[in-house]
Amino acid sequence: MAEYKLEVTTGDMINAGTFDHIFVTLIGTGGKSERTELDNEGVDFQTGMTGMYTLKTSSSLGKLLLVRLEKDPLFVLPEDEWYCSKIRVTTPDGEVLLFPCYRWISRGKQEELRGGRATKAFEDDHPVLTDHRQKELIDKRSLYQWAITDPKLPHSSDFKHVSELPAEIAFSMSKLMEMLYAKRTSGAELMFKGLLGSTEQWEKTEDIKKIFWFKETTMSVYVIEHWKDDDFYGFQFLNATNPNVIKRCSKLPPNFPVTEEMVKPSLAEGSSLQMEIMNGNVFLCDFKMMDGLPTKVHDGQTLHVTAGLCLFYMNPENKLKPIAIQLHQQPSEKNPIFLPSDSEMDWLLAKMFIKNVDLMLHQSVYHFMRAHLLAEVFTVATLRSLPVIHPLYKLLIPHVRHTLQINTMARQSVLGPDGILHTSSLGWDGMMELMRRSLSELTYSSLCLPENIAARGLESIPNFYYRDDGLKLWNIISSFVKAIVRHYYSSDSDVQKDTELQAWISEIFTHGFLENKASGFPASFNTVEEVTKFVTMVIFTVSAQHAAVNNGQFDFNSWVPNGSLLLRKPPPTTNGQSSMETVFETLPNVGETVKFAAMSWVLSEEYTDVVLLGTYPDERFDEPAPKQMIKDFQAELSCLSEAITKRNSELEVPYTYLNPDQIENSVTI
Ligand code: FE2
Repeated sequence: MAEYKLEVTTGDMINAGTFDHIFVTLIGTGGKSERTELDNEGVDFQTGMTGMYTLKTSSSLGKLLLVRLEKDPLFVLPEDEWYCSKIRVTTPDGEVLLFPCYRWISRGKQEELRGGRATKAFEDDHPVLTDHRQKELIDKRSLYQWAITDPKLPHSSDFKHVSELPAEIAFSMSKLMEMLYAKRTSGAELMFKGLLGSTEQWEKTEDIKKIFWFKETTMSVYVIEHWKDDDFYGFQFLNATNPNVIKRCSKLPPNFPVTEEMVKPSLAEGSSLQMEIMNGNVFLCDFKMMDGLPTKVHDGQTLHVTAGLCLFYMNPENKLKPIAIQLHQQPSEKNPIFLPSDSEMDWLLAKMFIKNVDLMLHQSVYHFMRAHLLAEVFTVATLRSLPVIHPLYKLLIPHVRHTLQINTMARQSVLGPDGILHTSSLGWDGMMELMRRSLSELTYSSLCLPENIAARGLESIPNFYYRDDGLKLWNIISSFVKAIVRHYYSSDSDVQKDTELQAWISEIFTHGFLENKASGFPASFNTVEEVTKFVTMVIFTVSAQHAAVNNGQFDFNSWVPNGSLLLRKPPPTTNGQSSMETVFETLPNVGETVKFAAMSWVLSEEYTDVVLLGTYPDERFDEPAPKQMIKDFQAELSCLSEAITKRNSELEVPYTYLNPDQIENSVTI
């Protein structure tokens, strides 16, 4: 007679419990147990509950391989799904093995759980395990399929509606989340009743303030007060929602003929543009990627999008200020260079047109494509290529949580006909083309922050908190990933012979980067180091980078004069022709402004079900070493959080978006 002790934990989310009968069969190298009902006195399997059960067999089952779970109805009632978190089994010889489940179990289906140490395929030494592993991958590949919505953009999952998502990834709160999302959108619209749909033009900026009765943040109030200031304008290209474009200018582009005379009044006394360029104090945003894109027709007029250039100067007070703006790529009489010394309204409009292209690039490329779409590629590749017992599945699954849900929902709402991409000056066609152009030029190194910062020459620009906090986060994530990867891959040959890992990176290369070899993305892995770097990039992108481009949207973009996705009038072509009236004619009308403000609210509001970076509520690793690595990771993040909070307390404009206490583990909004 042998006795197995089972500790069975039901999830703690709404409706996780069940009244149904639960049966378990243990499968070992020496045979399998009877199919046994888990039944104690009283109600079993209530939400959040852990029950202890004993299962007796006539003899030992040998090495325990699988735990099979089945659920039969107690009554003939509608399905009563059970969310089983985990089962811990103590064998007759005292070995304790963890069998993580973390999925919903329905009637009539057999779920077989793998347990114990994480393994790669070549380490499975029993035919039961090999078969189980292969079958799991075959099932997953049929469940999670790629869809091509545009041949020149990253591929996505083929789920059209969240109701189609398999229970396995429809984690906790899925229905609640969807409801909240819809409620927020309609709630935001209700708040502006009477203003939505209004085609009236604003007459005073004071009136725009009135739409913010429902919400303000310290930062959104600061933006309303300072949006016209040149130094705050410059600051935003480093520390607002799009810190991704600006770079050091080591030579003026030939199509941007800024002269010494033009910028002299903006520079330190006795200095020259040439000297400041040599000293590394001159920076540039060049939006040439927007040149020639199709634009939207709005009220019968084709809108204008300016592929502009903006030159910045870091002055001796460490304030970054715009010093020259040219709104189109080719210099001409009708494309003058605007300067801070021009009339206030000319300069303001020039800055607004640059901000408009910056925002469109931010929303389509840096937020939607490089964060949301790439996160979806990582998610689908992980679900299709790695079985749950694989160490990288255990590491990555918390970082892809809810991503298919949010992207599937976004495809229906935010990206729908009334969504952000459509309502911008570029409209859907222009935004799609912009993303295609950007993907064809996307490089691996640009997704790796240390290389990105170096390539842009931004290593030493002062007051660049996105860089300061981002690089620290990159290093912390990298140390954690290195520890985990080294624990499971003791040599490069382990990497080379891990067929599942190779399938994973190959899927990402094919479906995410469209097999573009020039991009520098790996199509396969040869070394432990390559795996570490790539996985670091994945975790950084879906957590920190997404937070950097997502979380400040209400703060910076709800005050539409500070940055608008839509501008209705053509840009100025000469000096001295613009007035405040021109500014209001150019800004979105009342209804459009309200819509943008509501959208920035919906997009950057946190859900209550937040899982912060480094938090792993599911116990998936069974060994002490990775558990300790997670604790070390959390301790490092917590130290960084304290340091950022302290630094921010001394700043006039704090930078909070890369504080680990504000970063989610995965793209969920
Ligand atoms: Fe987002």
